[in-house]
Amino acid sequence: MFISNDVKYVGVNDKEIDLFEGQYIVPNGMAYNSYVILDDKIAVMDSVDANFGDEWIANVKGALSGKQPDYLIVQHMEPDHSANVARFMAEFESAKVVSSDKAFVIMKQFFGDDFSERRVIVKEGDTLSLGKHNLTFVTAPMVHWPEVIVTYDSCDKTLYSADAFGKFGALDCDEDWTCEARRYYIGIVGKYGMQVQKLLEKAKGLDIKTICPLHGPVLTENLEYHINLYNIWSSYGVESEGVVIAYTSVYGNTKKAVNLLAEELTKLGCPKVTVTDLARDDMAEAVEDAFRYGKIVLATTTYNGDIFPFMREFVNELLERGYQNRKIGIIENGSWAPVAGRKIKQAFENSKNITFTDTVVTIRSAVTEENKTQISNLAKELI
Ligand code: FEO
Repeated sequence: MFISNDVKYVGVNDKEIDLFEGQYIVPNGMAYNSYVILDDKIAVMDSVDANFGDEWIANVKGALSGKQPDYLIVQHMEPDHSANVARFMAEFESAKVVSSDKAFVIMKQFFGDDFSERRVIVKEGDTLSLGKHNLTFVTAPMVHWPEVIVTYDSCDKTLYSADAFGKFGALDCDEDWTCEARRYYIGIVGKYGMQVQKLLEKAKGLDIKTICPLHGPVLTENLEYHINLYNIWSSYGVESEGVVIAYTSVYGNTKKAVNLLAEELTKLGCPKVTVTDLARDDMAEAVEDAFRYGKIVLATTTYNGDIFPFMREFVNELLERGYQNRKIGIIENGSWAPVAGRKIKQAFENSKNITFTDTVVTIRSAVTEENKTQISNLAKELI
């Protein structure tokens, strides 16, 4: 992969991983990116996951061609990037580690060592000259941990963006950037929209031609497109017109209502109807869709006097990420005391700019003719 004459890619592809961060399915694996900047001084940008230490060190040595690195720049201490910091420091004894003060606290927690004799602590706006490559460090707290810094190289006009602009998927798979970058962003960084907005504000002042994230491809084209999506996602805006129907169904009756609603919405010309079964489909994809579209219908049963478990989990996932600026419709089902609709409304009581449709479809066991009329009314309200 060509980045610039002086910058070599030394990251790795993880095709063995089952769940990223212990929870996200990654059908096309994961990339842990790392870069070497070769100048009068040599800097290595971040390390990789623990399982790839040998491969990464070999990649770094290959890029160095016998030279010694001067710096390891640690932008983020989450172990998918930092696991090999101690190993690097043992391997390259003259190198210094460059990071934020908060990162060194976490480093000590992970490695029992914060390299107090071999470290450079950097803060907002600090610079490090490698020769012609002048690096400026920009703090990016909570994008996605508190210690995060990103690094701007004014020579190549490259932003080393840490987790920002990353995606799921190894680099040797051919897949759309947007879908897996969105699922990654909403799932992992979604709660921290305000902090991402702050970073985007700082980035406005930089002339950026290349973005080198810690996951996913290096971005060199159409940067406005990627930055604009990050702006929409982090401001909880609506990216696409359409309706998401997220449901759980025990015996198929709630699902029947969902299918009727989907048909009705399509008939009325809804540009996109996305239906997801929360018990069987990928929850992270459902959460992503909830943030992508502006309208959502939650269809579920009452269970043990509460919301059915998979829907309860889904609602929690939305709340945890600051779900806002959306319209919600409800289909509830209950054979003797349906309360799911009321519980869902209560759950969003403190959410910003959440509105509910006037129509609530209440099914008592099976879909009736009256329910069909309600479903039709709900569809009209959503269009
Ligand atoms: Fe890719 Fe937050 O670590």
